[in-house]
Amino acid sequence: MPPFRRLSTADLPACLVLAADRSWDADSLRWHLMLQIADVWGLDAPDGGLAACGFLTRYHPAYATIGLLVVRRDHGRRGLATRLMAHLHDGGTEDITCLFATPMGRPLYRKLGYLAVDQIHKYIGPLEVASPPDGHLAEATPGDLDTLVSLDAAATGLDRRHLLTALFGRADRRLLLSHNGQYSGYGLAVPGSPRTPTVIGPLVAPDALAARMLIAGLAKDRTHAVRIDVFARHGDLPSWLQAGGMTHVSTDPMMLRGAASLPGDRRRLIAIASQALG
Ligand SMILES: CC(C)(COP(=O)(O)OP(=O)(O)OC[C@H]1O[C@@H](n2cnc3c(N)ncnc32)[C@H](O)[C@@H]1OP(=O)(O)O)[C@@H](O)C(=O)NCCC(=O)NCCS
Repeated sequence: MPPFRRLSTADLPACLVLAADRSWDADSLRWHLMLQIADVWGLDAPDGGLAACGFLTRYHPAYATIGLLVVRRDHGRRGLATRLMAHLHDGGTEDITCLFATPMGRPLYRKLGYLAVDQIHKYIGPLEVASPPDGHLAEATPGDLDTLVSLDAAATGLDRRHLLTALFGRADRRLLLSHNGQYSGYGLAVPGSPRTPTVIGPLVAPDALAARMLIAGLAKDRTHAVRIDVFARHGDLPSWLQAGGMTHVSTDPMMLRGAASLPGDRRRLIAIASQALG
């Protein structure tokens, strides 16, 4: 079998065909972003197109997220995903890798030593909630990027400037939250391709009540559906989202290999950028 090949944005059409083969969301703007910021590896199928792909996003020399692992149906159950995961891990036994596992992926990840350490709830739909009170939210400008990066670093223990710069540029709303004159959180709303929901995330806040303010500000006056992936640990946030009209789509485990927990004050990370990026 030919070796895995590094993919680029030129492979976007083939990636979308592969995603559609598994009935996966083929939001071309989001896949394009991933191809720009992640290390993407794929395998060409002998009859054309891609047989498999997998994305690795490195945030630190010893920490990465893995996502969008897909094997074409007619190439399934032949060990391809197992080999691709070994390639993504690159033999680096010291590395910590994190991923959000679909039901199909879980048996594979468990075999590879991943352990579930948290859970994420995915919600999609219109969100109609009371407007946030005045005085706590401010529109972030490009000059505030350093503030976002440091709020994010406090929550994740990582410098995610590369990711945040890319998402900031694509966001249609970027909010900073302040308490007593100090910034304590931020949130981005990032649109995808037409007819796909705008994603609210990443979102960092000191607690669930503060998170609600940011979410309400990011969702305000939208006529289309939004999507948010929130950690299960945040009390009544799920019921608040549902009361606002959103639908619970799935709950998936966050799985970790190489460590039992992640750095940073993770309680502050309310919503992720995407299941592929963390
Ligand atoms: C999950 C996926 C990537 C596995 O690809 P694959 O090449 O078939 O996986 P492998 O052949 O390497 O199988 C590895 C192990 O995964 C498990 N597995 C794979 N497919 C499975 C299935 N359909 N049902 C149950 N377990 C499965 C098995 O434990 C398997 O080992 P075994 O064949 O020795 O029993 C593939 O099914 C896929 O693309 N699914 C849709 C997209 C998806 O959900 N990706 C995971 C993202 S988190």
